[in-house]
Amino acid sequence: LAVVVLISGSGSNLQALIDGQQGGDLPIVIRAVISNVPDVRGLERAEAAGISTAVLNHRLFDDRAAFDTALMALIDSFDPALVVLAGFMRILTPDFVRHYLGRLLNIHPSLLPKYQGLHTHARALAAGDSEHGATVHFVTEELDGGPPILQARVPVLPDDDDDRLAARVLKQEHKIYPEAVRWFASGRLCLDPDKRARLDGKL
Ligand code: GRF
Repeated sequence: LAVVVLISGSGSNLQALIDGQQGGDLPIVIRAVISNVPDVRGLERAEAAGISTAVLNHRLFDDRAAFDTALMALIDSFDPALVVLAGFMRILTPDFVRHYLGRLLNIHPSLLPKYQGLHTHARALAAGDSEHGATVHFVTEELDGGPPILQARVPVLPDDDDDRLAARVLKQEHKIYPEAVRWFASGRLCLDPDKRARLDGKL
């Protein structure tokens, strides 16, 4: 399955996908890694794996629509069957989301629908939650509101701070994201016309 991965930073989720591809247990070919931020660690990870990289700096565009139009053209030049957002820190326009509907995945570091948006770990701590986690979901026009596919739960421990909790969640992200991509690549996962996620035909 031809995949394009979009990143903005460290790319540890990208690395989990690269490891899966290289280990042979993930039937994907990452055709390109695109970052909206220059010089990030994720680009180095892609280069180290021999994957094509591109930077499309959103700061060089007049507005969100112009950036997204250029991003779509760049992605489509690699003709992917799946676009994976892996720490891509940009809100996407409805046009973009519609263009990739059903083949656009994201991972969000919370147990959605809890804590959409930013600073999820701090918010879970501030709320005194006893558990926290991450969610893989299809991207729809509703920000962090698309249908969930797979969640991982972790306990919140008494001496947790932001970093410790984030690290515990991230470790689980590296398991569930490749798993969801594997489901999609093997044709087990799709978005149905009512915008609900189906695995093996079931909701
Ligand atoms: C992850 O926590 C992901 O859930 C969020 O951004 C972070 C990206 O980390 N969307 P990385 O770049 O994959 O290391």
